[in-house]
Amino acid sequence: MDIDETTYTLDTNKLEEKLKRYASKGKNVKAVVAVDYAGHPCNWEKLKSLQDKFGFQLVNDFCHAPGAEYNNDVQYAAKFADAVNMSFHPVKHFTTGEGGAVLSNNFELDKRVRTLRTHGMTKDESVLEKNDGPWYYEMHEVGFNYRITDFQCALGLTQLSKLSSFVEKRREIAKYYDAALAKDERLILPQVASNVKHAYHLYPLQIKFDEINITRKDYFARLRANRILAQVHYVPVHLQPFYRKNFGFKPGSLPIAEKFYEREISIPMYASLDKSDLEYISYKLIECLC
Ligand SMILES: Cc1ncc(COP(=O)(O)O)c(C=O)c1O
Repeated sequence: MDIDETTYTLDTNKLEEKLKRYASKGKNVKAVVAVDYAGHPCNWEKLKSLQDKFGFQLVNDFCHAPGAEYNNDVQYAAKFADAVNMSFHPVKHFTTGEGGAVLSNNFELDKRVRTLRTHGMTKDESVLEKNDGPWYYEMHEVGFNYRITDFQCALGLTQLSKLSSFVEKRREIAKYYDAALAKDERLILPQVASNVKHAYHLYPLQIKFDEINITRKDYFARLRANRILAQVHYVPVHLQPFYRKNFGFKPGSLPIAEKFYEREISIPMYASLDKSDLEYISYKLIECLC
């Protein structure tokens, strides 16, 4: 699906149109995976109402959004989605080095994920075909080794206890950028819906490169020469060779996402940035445009 122009999350109106189109052809959608991109929650109420109407599974890719709030609720994710996936990669709000988690309020799904995590092995007596004793297990499907280590979990627990302060720091950084960059008409700053508190995994800045005299490549080089490492999140998934080849996407298929990609740069956002860093970065972001 294409994205919404202001929140950069999945466009639920376009999703609704597509679901209706599919339903009229007798096609069912099995699942909708929606990303709380950059730390801004999707329109979960609308997604839930579409789920009630069309009956698909709902997944929240929540990797950017721990600490975000939706309708004043920091625990919103698993209340709306059947499954919520998280990443604990070092760039995320809190880390275990590598690893992640699946959250769910669905008991059956939770059980299945736990089984798949450990090679598909189960000791659950309610499903065993027989029971030879306390050592006995069965495999009813093939699983994986997706276990996170105890060492990583120890780090994760201390990191988790600091999550609120990490997110608060990111919000302060975003507030600084909002004020420092607001006046420049070449820039489009990230907006926040009124029922949302952003978690700012990213600060996705749009620059109207199509209207000014510098390319993004040159701008990146200028920033780098000033020791500022910007990034782009993301190269649109649907234009990746795999998705073009297997699903027939082509340039123009999702125009809002494509335009966003042309203009987006993610500027430095991490908890240890201090005021002098932010002054320097904001000044250079503007200076390098000229
Ligand atoms: C939105 C989103 N989903 C999924 C992932 C994948 O996470 P991992 O690499 O921990 O599997 C990432 C990682 O950057 C992400 O940003």
